[in-house]
Amino acid sequence: MYNSAPKIYQNRAADDLKAAIKERKQLLGGKLTILTHHYQRKEIVRLGDIVGDSYYLSRKAAEEKEARFIVFCGVHFMAEAARILCRDDQQVFLPNLYAGCPMADMSPMNAVTRAWGIVAGDGETVPISYMNSAAALKAFVGDHGGLICTSSNAQKAFEWAFARAKRVFFFPDENLGYNTAHGMGIPDNQIVTFDPAHSATPPEITDKTRIILWKGYCHVHTSFRPEHLVRMRERFPGVKIVVHPECIPEVVQSADAVGSTSFIVNFVDQQPAGSTIAIGTELNLISRLADDFPDKTVVELSGKGCPLCVNMYRTTLADLAYTLDFLGQTNEILVDEKIKNSARLSLERMLELD
Ligand code: 13P
Ligand code: SF4
Repeated sequence: MYNSAPKIYQNRAADDLKAAIKERKQLLGGKLTILTHHYQRKEIVRLGDIVGDSYYLSRKAAEEKEARFIVFCGVHFMAEAARILCRDDQQVFLPNLYAGCPMADMSPMNAVTRAWGIVAGDGETVPISYMNSAAALKAFVGDHGGLICTSSNAQKAFEWAFARAKRVFFFPDENLGYNTAHGMGIPDNQIVTFDPAHSATPPEITDKTRIILWKGYCHVHTSFRPEHLVRMRERFPGVKIVVHPECIPEVVQSADAVGSTSFIVNFVDQQPAGSTIAIGTELNLISRLADDFPDKTVVELSGKGCPLCVNMYRTTLADLAYTLDFLGQTNEILVDEKIKNSARLSLERMLELD
């Protein structure tokens, strides 16, 4: 079992842990802020100060004035981004240090550096990395004149890059990159994919090539298939289907709406009472939305109830209580100074897109 908190915390009752967390929050007051991603367990979101998508939370970390301690209930790359963007006198903590993101791990630095040398060394390419990436890749992107994007601003980031160069090399999510390019009207014959597992046979880069996509994916979002949409529409005539842009293109193109986790929350909020909404994203968010909107029918798109991000699910009440009890002594996220400076460049370019 992947747990950060010692057994003595894991064995405590949920109500006891909730009371302990509330007490610590009260004691620390403005010195503490708890950021929670939309995919966190319900009980964690309810105890947090701010809930949001990865873009909103990174902006909140960058703007946080009062809190000296930022506890990030999310996955590792999110807490790292907060560490990079906040002030040096602030500290960032991740309550469960095993909470990673398999997609972020699909673009290790040695493979990225090799790929860059093979297909992008001509001075005509701007690197863009999805927020779901390690600090070292964000630093590489900063050093090579590129920027970071999230699912809520990928198109703006691509436009930023095209104002500066002929093509974009996008890491690590092939689907978000393809869906963004497709949404901008970029034809398929101007898009190629670089598969790090086959770097000996790289794609041919021609004068026409505008997008190079890294072959990475999210196993949670790629579990949604086109037949799930067909089945939902048969089962619930009039259903509205909203999905995250990490889903495969066939799913995104046949959905009614696509957007970040915050977009999905707003989409559900805006549907009239009595509507049925099927959602293609992570299960914890869907189940929270079903609770929060009892006047609407909110269902998971695959109908199988399986799109759980186990990494997001790793953070428990025990982890949060333990991190708060030993604040400053455990679970701190640190980033090497040189990497931090270069990575901040790429993140700040993203924040300036607004
Ligand atoms: P958002 O940026 O939409 O919150 O998504 C983050 C993520 O990890 C989706 O899988
Ligand atoms: Fe990573 Fe997918 Fe989990 Fe998002 S849902 S944190 S992309 S594994």
